Amino acid sequence: NKGNYEHYMQKEIHEQPESLTTTMRGRLIRGGTCKAKTVLLGGLKDHLKTIRRSRRIVFIGCGTSYNAALAARPILEELSGIPVTMEIASDLLDRQGPIYREDTAVFVSQSGETADTLNALEYALQNGALCVGITNTVGSAIARHTHCGVHINAGAEIGVASTKAYTSQIVVMAMLALAIGGDAISNQARREAIIDCLFDLPNKVREVLKLDQEMKDLAKLLIAEQSLLMFGRGYNYATALEGSLKVKEVALMHSEGILAGEMKHGPLALVDESLPIVVIATHDACFSKQQSVIQQLHARKGRLIVMCSRGDAAAVSLGGACRVIEVPQVEDCLQPVVNIVPLQLLAYHLTVLRGYNVDQPRNLAKSVTTE
Ligand code: UD1
Ligand code: BG6
Repeated sequence: NKGNYEHYMQKEIHEQPESLTTTMRGRLIRGGTCKAKTVLLGGLKDHLKTIRRSRRIVFIGCGTSYNAALAARPILEELSGIPVTMEIASDLLDRQGPIYREDTAVFVSQSGETADTLNALEYALQNGALCVGITNTVGSAIARHTHCGVHINAGAEIGVASTKAYTSQIVVMAMLALAIGGDAISNQARREAIIDCLFDLPNKVREVLKLDQEMKDLAKLLIAEQSLLMFGRGYNYATALEGSLKVKEVALMHSEGILAGEMKHGPLALVDESLPIVVIATHDACFSKQQSVIQQLHARKGRLIVMCSRGDAAAVSLGGACRVIEVPQVEDCLQPVVNIVPLQLLAYHLTVLRGYNVDQPRNLAKSVTTE
């Protein structure tokens, strides 16, 4: 049921304040006098000790689910102190990459049925790793075959392009980082700031959804482009990958997510006065580096669209030379949840304006159950 919306993708983008609320329901503990703020993931509580003892955490997934894990990687590394590596499921299988008993392998999948991810799970089980699922579908193959896990509870997702599952996956993995990190005094302030931010995150997403018309106007400007680049780094490298995946899969426009730190190692050669480039430069530890990226792209006459934190427009627009998208600022590790929303809206409007099928993009399937 699409309710008042024209397409499932549109509905699923706009219902993210509600889906995020459901994802967190019963899992955030506000604390109180003498009690610390904390998270409770029922499906993991008996396994946290084993996870904390593991030598490595490996995230495994495909498509948007992989991107969500990439967005959560920095906070998991920070709070757990355990090395976190990333695997695209098919690539792990192609290489028969090493997976050990001392590993915790985390399988991220909206459907819980993706063939490559499921095959990688069988492989990791054979190799003796502790296998954890992050799935949206109760009773799915991945939910059943993992040793333990967390349901993201985002509600059924119908649009082939994943939107609300992405933001709920990031939130669950941030909660996973908090749970694994435990209650070490050393990062108590950080932990509490993240938990406070989680409580308020649905409101921030509601705010950023107000950019809908602005993103439609931007889509009108970009409607006839051949290609669109997206530059990100740190927490928001994943945002660049996921934003460009949305544009590619539904708007059928070539789009590439680029790690800004790699700019001089190739991508800079593409920059000219016609190619549109989105630069994600919200305020975090990488901000000054992104400001320098913006200046260097501008020096080569790049056509820039900069996403920045509210209040930073003057610091990134180079005296009005760049179009700016201002978003509410949240805790750095949760900023990807806010930042992806305007890009989802952009991909949605580009698709409608270009006259393509939003919910059933050409050649793609919601659940890829064959290799
Ligand atoms: C569970 C109930 C929820 C109830 C809550 C009350 C289910 C599905 N969930 O939620 O309805 O409101 O208790 O405390 O009945 N699991 C995997 N792999 C996965 C995902 C989950 O093995 O990929 C396992 C978990 O380890 C857990 C079970 O499935 O044993 C349910 O997980 P989840 O729904 O996340 O647990 P709760 O949030 O505790
Ligand atoms: C397909 C979907 O390619 O599978 C994507 O179209 C999705 O939206 C990918 O990200 C992985 O699916 P899942 O269900 O394992 O998260």
